[in-house]
Amino acid sequence: MTAILLKFVHVLAIAMWSVGLLSLPFLYSQRRQLKDKALFSLHNFVRFFYIKLVSPAAFVAVVTGTALIFVESTFVPWFSVKLALVGAMVFIHVLSGLVILRLFEPGQTYPTSRVIIVITLTATVIAAILVTVLGKPQWVTAGWINDFFAPGALGEMLPFLSAWLR
Ligand code: HEM
Repeated sequence: MTAILLKFVHVLAIAMWSVGLLSLPFLYSQRRQLKDKALFSLHNFVRFFYIKLVSPAAFVAVVTGTALIFVESTFVPWFSVKLALVGAMVFIHVLSGLVILRLFEPGQTYPTSRVIIVITLTATVIAAILVTVLGKPQWVTAGWINDFFAPGALGEMLPFLSAWLR
């Protein structure tokens, strides 16, 4: 029951986070057509959207995802790939937030070419995460990688650094 509830909230938060990241470039591109009160309203809305909706959704996605690691014991190679891709999504999220800080300064614009590049990149990362997590591929890691990451391996490799193995 806990797992189902956690997964439900996780997927809901991810849907909000993904839609948010995909919508922001379109909102940014509106900036060039607007002036005065309309520009102020857009700035206000973009800040509200990023701070009050998209960022909390990202936070809930990460917290529920972290809880799911312990509930579902996902200690498998595809999960490491998923986390690396989530790192890319977090990077896009942070860069998107930094855009807001400069975009509403006088004379700034957000070109259509940038909208296309950012949307394509974001959609690719989200799709890659979904394919990985839903496909759960049975990747096999090389033996030396397993040996390298085995619990206690560092102590065996560098015994002179360990006070407990002597
Ligand atoms: C730090 C961030 C995240 C962590 C720690 C995390 C962790 C997890 C874990 C442990 C599960 C359960 C897997 C299983 O049932 O075997 C899960 C399920 C899922 N995650 Fe994430 N996740 C994160 C972010 C994301 C993101 C960004 C997406 C999509 C864009 C995503 C999509 C999904 C989906 C669709 C499921 C359901 C998979 C299924 O039931 O088969 N997660 N997540």
